[in-house]
Parts: sequence; C-alpha cells; structure tokens
Amino acid sequence: MCGIIGYIGEREAAEILVEGLKRLEYRGYDSVGIVTEKGELFIKKGAGKIDELKEKLKLHEMPGNRGIGHTRWATHGIPNDINAHPHTDCTGKIAVVHNGIIENYLELRSELEKKGHTFKSDTDTEVIAHLIEEALKDSSTFEGALRKALLKLRGSFALGIMYAGDKERLYFVRNESPLVLGIGNGEMFAASDIPAFLPYTNKVVFLDDGEYAVVSKDAFTVKDLGTGKEKKKEIHEINWTLEMAEKQGYPHFMLKEIHEQPKAVKEAIYGNLETIDKVAEEIAKYEKMFVVAMGTSYHAGIAAKYLFQRLANKPVLVEEASEFRYEFENIVDENSLVIAITQSGETADTLAAIRLAKKKGAKVLSIVNVVGSMATRLSDLVIYTHAGPEIGVAATKTYTTQLTVLTMLAIALAKVLNTVDEDYLKKLKAELLKLPRYIEAVLGYENKIKSLAEELIDRRDFFYIGRGISVATALEGALKLKEISYIHAEGLSAGELKHGPLALIEEGVPVVAISPSGKTFDKMVSNIQEVNARKGFVISLGDNEELEKVSKVFLKMPKIDELLSPIVYIVPLQLLAYHLAVLRGNDPDKPRNLAKSVTVE
Ligand code: AGP
Repeated sequence: MCGIIGYIGEREAAEILVEGLKRLEYRGYDSVGIVTEKGELFIKKGAGKIDELKEKLKLHEMPGNRGIGHTRWATHGIPNDINAHPHTDCTGKIAVVHNGIIENYLELRSELEKKGHTFKSDTDTEVIAHLIEEALKDSSTFEGALRKALLKLRGSFALGIMYAGDKERLYFVRNESPLVLGIGNGEMFAASDIPAFLPYTNKVVFLDDGEYAVVSKDAFTVKDLGTGKEKKKEIHEINWTLEMAEKQGYPHFMLKEIHEQPKAVKEAIYGNLETIDKVAEEIAKYEKMFVVAMGTSYHAGIAAKYLFQRLANKPVLVEEASEFRYEFENIVDENSLVIAITQSGETADTLAAIRLAKKKGAKVLSIVNVVGSMATRLSDLVIYTHAGPEIGVAATKTYTTQLTVLTMLAIALAKVLNTVDEDYLKKLKAELLKLPRYIEAVLGYENKIKSLAEELIDRRDFFYIGRGISVATALEGALKLKEISYIHAEGLSAGELKHGPLALIEEGVPVVAISPSGKTFDKMVSNIQEVNARKGFVISLGDNEELEKVSKVFLKMPKIDELLSPIVYIVPLQLLAYHLAVLRGNDPDKPRNLAKSVTVE
C-alpha cells in the first residue's frame, strides 16, 4: 500500500532514501521516486522496481541533505512514470508523497481546475500539492497553508511534504495510514515502517491519526491537525536490530522468516509466559467473544475459535474485520470481548473493526507484532507476538507466533474458568514448550518438499483439507500457495468436500490432507480415500503412519496434541508454497498485486 520515507540531516539524503525505500519495497513496488533539495527541488521518478531505477535514473546521485521518497502500490492511475510519486503543484515548489486514498479527490480536483490549476497525473495524491499551493496564496506561513489544505481531505493518508521555500524543515502527516518518526542525533527520519531507518536509529515516535510533524535536523514538533496545538509525544526505543531486517544470506526474506520460526515461537512463549494469566483473568467474564482479522491473521482467528471452544467452553464468532464493521453494529456491546489479530497493527479493516467495538463499549484485546502500531494504541489490552520484523509479504513467522499466543491464552482461560482437567492443561503446556524443537524437525523436510514442488510445478489447482482446528491450516496453506505461486488453491473443511468440490477432483489434482491424530482422524482417512477413488494426488501430513498407505506423499509429523498441531503443520506448507513460487520464477517476497500492510479498505 505504498511506502514513504523522509530524511533531514547532514548526510547525502538520496542514498538514505534509496536504501530506506528498498526496505519498504514490500509495501509496494510498481514505481519509485524521490525529491531532494539543494537550493531548488530535484525530482526523479519512474515506473519499475528500485534496483532498476536506481541505476537508470542515478537516484543515489541526487544532491542535498533533505528529501522524501516513495515506493508505490497503484490505487489511482496505472503504474507509469507520470503517476509515480512525488507529485508537485503548478510552481514545482511543493512536493508530496502519499500512502493511502483521498476519497474526495475528484471534487477537489475539479474545484482546483476551475481555479486554473493544471494537473499532470491521474493520481488522487496530486490534489494535495495543488491544495497547499492554493492555500499558500492567503496564508502567512507554509505550516498554516498546509493545515488549511489538509483539513479539506477525506480519506486515509500518510504524507511526506517538502517545500522549496522552507529549507530547514520537512512535514509529515498521518491519518489512517502508518507513519513513524525516527529520532537521530542531528538528523531525523520518517517512514511508513521502522526497518526503513533502522540502520540509523531505533528511537521512534509513532504519529496518531490527525497529527502532523514539523521536522528539522535537530528537532521535531507534533501537532494536532484540527487545532494546530502542540502534542506531547513519547520516544520509544525499539529492540529490533538491523540484522533482523536483513536477509542474512537467505535468497528471500520469506525463506529466512520460515526458518526463524523456532526462535520466533520461543520468543512468543517466553515473552508472554508471565503476563498471559493476567490477561486471561481480565477477559474471563465476557460472555460474547468475537475475533476480527484479515487474511492470515483471520486464519489464526479460525484456530482461536477451536482453542477457546474446546478448552474454555466459550463460543466464539470469527469474522473478517471488513465484514464485522458493517454487520455487527447491533450485536457487539459492553458485554463483548473483541480480539483483533493483526501482525502490522495497521490493517485498515481491522482498525475499523476495533474502532466500532470501542464505540459500542466492548473490551478490545489486540494480538499484534509491531510495537506501538495503531491497533495497540486503540485497544484496552495488547499481547505482542514478538516475532521480530517480517518483511516478506506472505506472513509466516507472525502466523505461527499468533497461534502460539492464542494457544497460551486459551490454556490460561481454561485454567481461570476451570473448564478442563488440570493434568491435560499441564500436558498442553509441556508440549507448547517443545514447539520450537518440533518446528526445527519439520524444517528438515525442506529438500523433500522442494522435490515435491518440482513434481507439481505445472498443476493448476490445489486443494487443502482438514477437520476441526486443522481447517485453519487448510485455509492458510491454500492462501500461501495462491499469493506467491499464483496457482489456484482452495482450503476447506474435509467434510465439505462431498458437498461440491469433489466434482473438481480428477487424476493428478493435488489434495493436501492435514490429518493429525484426534477425534476426526478416521473421518479424514475416509475423505482421503474418496480423493484416491478419483485418482487425486494425496499429500498427507500426520503422525499416524497408516497415512502412508493411502497417500502419494506422506510427511510424518511429530506426535503432538491436535490443538497445537497448526503451529507445526503449517511450516511444510509454507515451504511448499515458497519452492513452487521460486521454481515458477516468482519473487515470493513481492507477490504481484499485493502489499504487506493493507492500509486502505
Ligand atoms: C498473508 O500472507 C498476507 N500478508 C495477508 O493476508 C495479511 O495476513 C493480512 O493483510 C492481514 O495483515 P495484518 O496481520 O497485518 O493485519
């Protein structure tokens, strides 16, 4: 959904901007542009990826010690050189980079055109530069004009703004799109996400909606957009390191992040071990439980439903946040607990669902990876997943850590509510601590999975089936394959197969059967046989060796309680998706049409 960056200090700005944009490329990668200043504004931009454009346009050679930059994920206007950011006003003195959508841009554009402004691009962003230009005509200061113009915007925006006439400052604005300031020594940064400036500082200030920052090399001031009054902001120190945000020898971030899962799950466990009981006590009294999330986080929510229902006897409604916000207004109330799952903490739909829940008086608990992100600031309670930065667009370690903390929470809730046998809870806890080892063991299947990917490279459709909590694994396995390999895949409950999808099973169609031992294991074997009868290509994952007899490929999984199995069973499926994507010539870190954080609805 676009990445923006800004720098002001003593160093050559262009190099820092280009390097930072590279780290933000996961947010969008169809066009790139930067503007720097040395006496006048210098702008270079174009359609394409950063590495190509860096050489072609000699981006890193642009002069000056302050600048802003942008990597684009097109919403308004096709990806081409003209629509690439920065966008400027008629005078060429005001440059703007933008992440988000200006909903009223058509009406603003037509008003501005009537006043004589000439537009060059098809973007919604360009109106912002012209609006400021217009406001500047009767404002004594640039900041005053900026506020006046921005108050006319409707929609979501994180903005970086630079004015040729104000050589000491940069301006940044946040409304419903992420933006964070990086506080250096004699230099300042701003970006959509922390890794962009992590080589230089880990001291950050998170902007809230409706705030703007005036940033010079030695100072920053944050103000309320509506009133213009200064706001006190806390400086946070982030414990992410540069190594965490680099590939460290892996060909792709996704593969690195898959392999980081034993460590990430361990951090998730030990980072929450002492606090989880307290959270469980706080939520135990709520009768109505909702889980809201999107994409992979939504699949973690599906697993959560089985965990809370089985362990704590709590019925749970899991809803895509994009549906929840429009359909649940009359259902959610002060007796409700809403659990929002979001790795970024910035997904527009999930934030909207949280806001609705808060408005209706519900208690909101967020499960988040990015410290200080918007979801954490809107919620009553937060559990961090401690996965470290995830750069690959496809969620991997953030998913397994979400599952880990949700499992811990369900166990803690069961203890508070006294809903299951204590010995069983003890057994679950002991197995939980062994998860990092189990994940390490299944990572050992990588070569086998790579060979399998070679065999299946040309298949058009995949099916993933499971029962109970394994439905979550089926859905997530299918999503991983779709988003990075571009092969059609469906995840469904195995019981649903006979009710329609079985019609699509014919010779050689891969069916991944997620079959841990548990109360529906026999039923799964029957479903596998139904696929075999249609000559489907069964790949089964399970701990029972009987599966080998009924499968083309069998991946023996560690013997583990069914409720914990999603955390381990998804790992081979992530590897399968990864290797299929690479073999098919795709970049798994930057799947087409997708962006890491979806900050527009
Ligand atoms: C999954 O691989 C995707 N990255 C996507 O489905 C993602 O899980 C979804 O956009 C939600 O993101 P969030 O967890 O940051 O809210």
